[in-house]
Amino acid sequence: MGVGIEVKDLNAWYGSNHTLQDINLNIQPNEATALIGPSGCGKSTFVRCLNRMHETNPIAKVTGSVRIGDLDIYNDASPVEVRRRIGMVFQRPNPFPTMSIYDNVASGLRLNGFRNRRVLDEVVERSLKHAALWDEVKDELKKKSGASLSGGQQQRLCIARALAVDPEVLLMDEPASALDPVSTAKIEDLIFQLKSQYTIIIVTHNMQQAARVAERTGFFLNGKLVEFDSTHKIFTNPRDKRTEDYITGRFG
Ligand SMILES: Nc1ncnc2c1ncn2[C@@H]1O[C@H](COP(=O)(O)OP(=O)(O)O)[C@@H](O)[C@H]1O
Ligand SMILES: [Mg+2]
Repeated sequence: MGVGIEVKDLNAWYGSNHTLQDINLNIQPNEATALIGPSGCGKSTFVRCLNRMHETNPIAKVTGSVRIGDLDIYNDASPVEVRRRIGMVFQRPNPFPTMSIYDNVASGLRLNGFRNRRVLDEVVERSLKHAALWDEVKDELKKKSGASLSGGQQQRLCIARALAVDPEVLLMDEPASALDPVSTAKIEDLIFQLKSQYTIIIVTHNMQQAARVAERTGFFLNGKLVEFDSTHKIFTNPRDKRTEDYITGRFG
């Protein structure tokens, strides 16, 4: 099941660049939350703070607290544990290119020590079904490589790989911006289905996409969360002038 996320006084830096400033928000379980805002405003940095990937950069620093369910991720858990519970999908699909489809999906489980063939088979099948890719690949699981799939299929493969380790949250950083419209629609459909089981955060440049898939939307500008509310409110009657200017296309 998805879990809620509570972010308190989150600040992040790259060297002396104070990239995120005093971010506070609560993300609801089993919803999709969209994050919008102009390029460079800190959206990717924010999602990377939610699974402790930000700190893998040697010049990065982060302060504040993030609770995912009952887990205080900066105090109660190791980065490895956090990344198992909070899966991530990136803008460019990044399957392991030389691995088969099967091995791509099984990779996280194998890293966690799973060896039982029957269990792996089951998880691979279930994950590919959840990612709406099973029917397209089931006859070639071990024959085809991750890299031989189309871009949209590769992205669904990456989603299957993320789901295989049974996360509670799925972070998607512009998951469809490198895809064609048909593949994009498939990813959006998938987000709808996945919400019942996971909490989803999607960074998107595409405001129509945010409006279609997300219950709530946050607008970032220059490292600050300017406004966070129901998607309907953000797009029809935002509180902040800067949000209104952005959604009406006055900048960004
Ligand atoms: N690896 C990095 N090293 C130094 N600065 C970075 C790095 N990644 C991002 N930044 C800076 O952090 C700010 C926010 O970037 P980012 O989170 O990628 O924004 P967005 O995803 O909204 O486009 C930008 O000023 C960017 O230049
Ligand atoms: Mg980004």
